Amino acid sequence: MKIGIVFGTRRVAATAEIADWMREHFSNLGHSVVCEKPAEFGIFDCDLYVVGTAVYAFSAKRAGISRFIRTNTRRLGNTPTAVFIVCGADEPSAQSTDNVVIRALKNTFLNREKYLKSVTRLLPTPPVATAFFKGYQEPEDRAKDNFESQRETVTAWCDSLLAAR
Ligand SMILES: Cc1cc2nc3c(=O)[nH]c(=O)nc-3n(C[C@H](O)[C@H](O)[C@H](O)COP(=O)(O)O)c2cc1C
Repeated sequence: MKIGIVFGTRRVAATAEIADWMREHFSNLGHSVVCEKPAEFGIFDCDLYVVGTAVYAFSAKRAGISRFIRTNTRRLGNTPTAVFIVCGADEPSAQSTDNVVIRALKNTFLNREKYLKSVTRLLPTPPVATAFFKGYQEPEDRAKDNFESQRETVTAWCDSLLAAR
């Protein structure tokens, strides 16, 4: 299978690393993989596009992915897509101990589902799968937050995409 991974990020950090885990995993399984940032991505005969973006300043649209989708909607066509979001926000259940005001603020600004929806609503067809992965803010947080422990989750998600094909 030919797989395109397009990842939006402004840094050489979590999103690039997650995309590279995916690239390596799909390649090890014998798939042909193109893995680029939106501005460099130009291969449109893939069987699957995995589209991912970092979140900055309460938005998943600051790292080039929304522009990429808008520019290439026709080229993406009906090809299956899967979307991943890399952010600092936790899943809502992890916020249950917050007080009402903090919870309301988080729901408005640190809302993973909103980030995801702002990307998926641009796609020509609904994604076959979506995922959230936790990034890290500062380089020293990478080890502190045990970022690399997500690697298996990431590759398992990749496997689930292949199984769904
Ligand atoms: C300047 C900056 C702003 C951020 N804003 C948000 C935010 O609004 N919501 C959120 O969930 N995470 C936010 N984060 C966390 C990032 O999503 C996280 O650091 C992620 O790893 C960024 O992707 P990158 O490592 O590829 O740059 C922010 C991080 C940075 C550095």
